[in-house]
Amino acid sequence: MLIGIPKEIKDHEYRVGATPAGVRELVNAGHQVLVEKNAGAAIDFADAQYVAAGAKIVASAKDVYGKAQMILKVKEPQKSECALIRKGQIIFSYLHLAAEPELTKLLIKSGCVAIAFETVSAADRSLPLLAPMSEVAGKLSIQAGAKALEKAQGGRGILLGGVPGVARGKVVILGGGVSGTNAAKVAIGMGAEVVILDKSLPRIRYLCDIFGNSVEVLYASIENIEKNVVEADVVVGAVLIPGAAAPKLVSAKLVKKMKKGSVMVDISIDQGGCFETSKPTSHSNPTYVTDGVVHYCVTNMPGAVARTSTQALENSTLPFSLALANKGYTKALLDDVHLKNGLNVIDGKVTYKAVADALGYKFVEAEKTL
Ligand SMILES: NC(=O)c1ccc[n+]([C@@H]2O[C@H](COP(=O)([O-])OP(=O)(O)OC[C@H]3O[C@@H](n4cnc5c(N)ncnc54)[C@H](O)[C@@H]3O)[C@@H](O)[C@H]2O)c1
Repeated sequence: MLIGIPKEIKDHEYRVGATPAGVRELVNAGHQVLVEKNAGAAIDFADAQYVAAGAKIVASAKDVYGKAQMILKVKEPQKSECALIRKGQIIFSYLHLAAEPELTKLLIKSGCVAIAFETVSAADRSLPLLAPMSEVAGKLSIQAGAKALEKAQGGRGILLGGVPGVARGKVVILGGGVSGTNAAKVAIGMGAEVVILDKSLPRIRYLCDIFGNSVEVLYASIENIEKNVVEADVVVGAVLIPGAAAPKLVSAKLVKKMKKGSVMVDISIDQGGCFETSKPTSHSNPTYVTDGVVHYCVTNMPGAVARTSTQALENSTLPFSLALANKGYTKALLDDVHLKNGLNVIDGKVTYKAVADALGYKFVEAEKTL
């Protein structure tokens, strides 16, 4: 199959759909790969490395979309990219269509085969192509929180790990899923006191088993949340109710009771945020202060570490990309129900129920289109 890797054009997006190592795997499996000039240059994947891996460099996105049978990318196609997408072309990428009526319309019109990373599933009902970005965001949340605690950033002037003779800082993590667990790992590594609160008893048992006495794991009752949040130096919001807005676990009233210069990192901001005082921020202006509390609410945290994120994403997407390339999309989707769950739009039809319902399209079962 002829596979295309365009340069991402969304504002401040430095990730790329394939690394040179990924290209090598695709070429090794007998495929041809076209990479747009400088597609990975911003994260130190040079064109020469792609060529050494077996790719051909082309000058423009038009060259990539004009020839490739499958496009591997990261962010949802932007308007100018949608104009280049061809009928029958596979687009394998994050899409988030339920929140993107205009993009959905353009993909329907194009007649392409749009497979969304975020709806590909796994046997345990988890979302394997979302997990790597939650891992990144979780680890980054403590790095961001520790930085924001510094005096010059508006913080309390606290070193999370303390030093001999001086108390360490307290990190409170709301939601002990993928991102919360990764936040805890880094916070423990830094030497902080760590409390995780979750509502799922199986998850609480799991967290107790893996972390032992290095963290306190508590049921996320109103009382436990209130008591721990007012004592915290850093609060990390990492809850998720799939398909729904994040529950507001910290009210504006509770924020007023927090220590001045403490920090809140709301990872759940992409689902509306789990603190009442959260509002989305960007990497160029990541924090603001409300009631003396520093808020970090960046909606695309993994973009800050685009090289790590690209590699982490590719580790999870590559087996699916290879299946699509080796078998063609019809067989690949029919063979694997989890990859089939990724199919959102094909030949002008919407095959993902939540997207059809959210945007008022007729839902067509994927099998009927293959
Ligand atoms: N800001 C970013 O850049 C970024 C990056 C990656 C992920 N995210 C977001 O981070 C959030 C968390 O993702 P995840 O992959 O860790 O989810 P996850 O499903 O692995 O974990 C969520 C956890 O929240 C718990 N939970 C649900 N309701 C709760 C409640 N009321 N009180 C306490 N715990 C509760 C669940 O039991 C679960 O353990 C999602 O909204 C995701 O979209 C944001």
